[in-house]
Amino acid sequence: MTATYDVDGLVAVVTGGASGIGAATCRLLSDNGATVAVLDVNGEAAVSVAASLTGEARGFAVDVADSAAVRGAMGDVVRAFGRIDIAVNNAAIARHGAVADLSDEVWREVLAIDLDGVFYCMKAQIDAMLRTGGGSIVNLASTVGFVAIKGLSAYLAAKHGVVGLTRIGAVDYARSGIRVNAVAPGRIETPQLLADVTPEVTIEDLADRCPMGRLGDPDEVAHVIAFLASRASSFMTGAVVSVDGGYLAGAGR
Ligand SMILES: NC(=O)c1ccc[n+]([C@@H]2O[C@H](COP(=O)([O-])OP(=O)(O)OC[C@H]3O[C@@H](n4cnc5c(N)ncnc54)[C@H](O)[C@@H]3O)[C@@H](O)[C@H]2O)c1
Repeated sequence: MTATYDVDGLVAVVTGGASGIGAATCRLLSDNGATVAVLDVNGEAAVSVAASLTGEARGFAVDVADSAAVRGAMGDVVRAFGRIDIAVNNAAIARHGAVADLSDEVWREVLAIDLDGVFYCMKAQIDAMLRTGGGSIVNLASTVGFVAIKGLSAYLAAKHGVVGLTRIGAVDYARSGIRVNAVAPGRIETPQLLADVTPEVTIEDLADRCPMGRLGDPDEVAHVIAFLASRASSFMTGAVVSVDGGYLAGAGR
């Protein structure tokens, strides 16, 4: 797929950039001329993705659930590249369990990474962007930021929260040159999704639940992220854009 995005010369931070949608986003932003900071709890994989990019890039190890570590990592990015223009808050984990089956520990683990992590990242990124006149933040929500899929209680609550953080960030910083949008992917073929495949639920079952009858490719999400990150979406803020093959438009399963 060829497409160009107006991100040339901008500095981008991508959390969870070592795998799946995050890695595809790093590649696309880099191919379009952005400098890319690849952040991931798996520091080795982040360094290796950064080394594979076409433009200037560096990998950083950070656990987004650790507020001080996030502040430190965003500071390292500013020291390395001078500013943060684009931030893609993509790192997340998914765990299964209906409310009564979920341990407090799993609830905390998911909320700490998937919701607290986005809050910590936005806080540090907004601080940096306010100093340089603005920027564009893109958060990764999900179809389950809007509708329920059985058994995903903690992940679903976190993604509803990410939709809320996106909207409030957009409104609070609309006059400071900072735009905050989100993408809401449906089922995309990545390591996270493949963890959902069991003897009872095959990959074909998951594809069949999508009106298009297939899973999405990480690049198909990365293109929407790159557009929202770019100067071309300059009047968009507070939007949550579905990239789900029609899932939310239909009844959803
Ligand atoms: N794949 C899907 O079907 C799908 C659907 C809807 C939403 N999403 C969302 O898209 C985003 C990317 O998902 P993906 O499918 O590419 O996942 P993935 O598992 O392929 O990649 C997630 C990355 O996040 C990193 N990560 C995990 N915990 C972290 C932490 N504490 N700190 C820093 N990095 C951490 C992992 O090491 C990994 O590199 C996530 O926010 C996910 O919830 C994915």
